[in-house]
Amino acid sequence: MVYERVLITAEQLAATVDRLAAEINDRYAGRPLTALILLEGARCFADDLLLKLAMPVERAFLKLSSYAGTAAGTVIINPDTRLQQSLKGKNVLVIDDIYDTGRTLSHLLEWLDICSPRSVKTCVLLEKDIPHDESVTIDFLGMQVPDVFVIGYGMDYDGRYRELPFIAELSP
Ligand code: IMP
Ligand code: MG
Repeated sequence: MVYERVLITAEQLAATVDRLAAEINDRYAGRPLTALILLEGARCFADDLLLKLAMPVERAFLKLSSYAGTAAGTVIINPDTRLQQSLKGKNVLVIDDIYDTGRTLSHLLEWLDICSPRSVKTCVLLEKDIPHDESVTIDFLGMQVPDVFVIGYGMDYDGRYRELPFIAELSP
C-alpha cells in the first residue's frame, strides 16, 4: 500500500471546498477576481473551487520550483513579464495546495508585490501543523493536517498519486 491512512475523505474535501467557496463569494461580493493557481499541486483543488465561485474569474497559472537539495529550499519563479503585467490592478486570489515551511508563499507574495495588483488574498487547502519558517497570512484556509507527507487530490510524491480522490499520508 502506498498510503498509510486516509486523512481527509473525498466527502470532507467536497464540504471544505463548498465552505471556502462560500467564504470567498461572501468576501468579494461579486467583484471580479484573478485566480493565480500554483502548479502543479493546486490544480485539482482550484478546478473544484472555481466551479463554485459566483463572480467572474480569470485564471492565471504559475509554476514554481523549489530546489530543496541544492540551496535549502530556494524558491525559483521564472520571469514572465506578460503574466506580471496581466496582474496589474487585479484582485488576485493566490490558490495553493499546502502551507508547509511557508517559503513558497512568502516568496510568491514578494514577487506579486512588484506586479502592482489591486489586492492580494490567499486561499490554501491545507496547513501543516508546524511552526512555519516564513509566516504568511492565509485568508481562506481549508484544513490543518499533521506534520506528515501527504498525497492525493493533486498532491504528488515524485510525480505520482495526484489522482487519488482523497488525501492520505504517504507510507514510510
Ligand atoms: P512550503 O514552501 O514549504 O510551504 O511548501 C510548499 C509546497 O511544497 C507546497 O505547495 C507543495 O507543493 C509542496 N509540499 C509540501 N508538503 C507537501 C506534502 O506533504 N505533500 C506534497 N507536497 C508537499
Ligand atoms: Mg505547491
